[in-house]
Amino acid sequence: MTIEAIRTVAVLGAGTMGNGIAHVFARCGYTVILRDVEESFLVRARDTIAKNLDREIKKGKIEEGAKSKILARIHTTTDFSQIARADFAIEAVPERLDLKLSVLREADQLLRPEAILASNTSSISVTTLAAATGRPDRFIGMHFMNPVPVMTLVEVIRGLQTSEDTFTRTMQLCEKLGKKPVAVNDAPGFVSNRVLMPLINEAAFCVLEGVATAEAVDAVMKGGMNHPMGPLELADLIGLDVCVDIMDVLLAGFSYPKYRVCPLLRKYVAAGWLGRKSGRGFYKYS
Ligand SMILES: NC(=O)c1ccc[n+]([C@@H]2O[C@H](COP(=O)([O-])OP(=O)(O)OC[C@H]3O[C@@H](n4cnc5c(N)ncnc54)[C@H](O)[C@@H]3O)[C@@H](O)[C@H]2O)c1
Repeated sequence: MTIEAIRTVAVLGAGTMGNGIAHVFARCGYTVILRDVEESFLVRARDTIAKNLDREIKKGKIEEGAKSKILARIHTTTDFSQIARADFAIEAVPERLDLKLSVLREADQLLRPEAILASNTSSISVTTLAAATGRPDRFIGMHFMNPVPVMTLVEVIRGLQTSEDTFTRTMQLCEKLGKKPVAVNDAPGFVSNRVLMPLINEAAFCVLEGVATAEAVDAVMKGGMNHPMGPLELADLIGLDVCVDIMDVLLAGFSYPKYRVCPLLRKYVAAGWLGRKSGRGFYKYS
């Protein structure tokens, strides 16, 4: 498939990442089919996209008249079969292997043979996900960063069987979206989360052990290391459930105890303190 032939993109999962991915594709002129399991999640995603577009208008990034056109390009649905007309599909459901495998198998059955299937996984083996489909050569990791409309990096991960053509198209697609793709090979957590998650985990241990408050940990990293956000603010933005899931993948993949998830992170997730998206994590949000 040529890059020009990619016009309709399916996004599976309309959460933090899915709504951002839908936003950037629609802003770039693509027709988007955004699929989630409940109508209320789709309504929430559309509201978030509308608010984020308003922010872009205020910043002068897009014109006021563009908002309605961008929103009109996004078709939300709970009906999985609607993705059949997509030329490219990106899965952005929660970071759990069993769930991803079942969503990807179903998507593989519905999509045309030539369509490329990508996963926004943060840490799970792209080779494993690809092998569950009948198109491992047309399967790739496309790891967008949060918040998707703002962050330029896309980590592009080649599975063992990803074809050169799929890789080239995906890199081109990232560039068309105005993103900066960086190619990496398949390993647990790739580069981004193999480096970032142990930092967040260690910051959580500092809070657990009473070394410092969350505010103090973040202040040290911002003021001392010039990080734009502290690791715990960033964990709240990512979602503490997502952080726990990724640490579990790193531990399973490398079997080193250094990847053991901080019990405080697990406790917060058990309490429903998932970070910004639930109103409370290391910090409270109104
Ligand atoms: N949050 C981040 O900062 C971040 C950054 C990069 C990558 N990721 C990755 O992106 C993926 C999604 O993460 P998220 O933070 O958007 O999660 P999220 O929990 O915010 O959203 C996931 C969405 O998927 C939906 N979903 C569940 N089962 C589904 C199904 N069968 N079909 C369609 N939709 C379904 C859920 O209802 C939810 O709306 C994960 O793999 C995560 O690791 C997350």
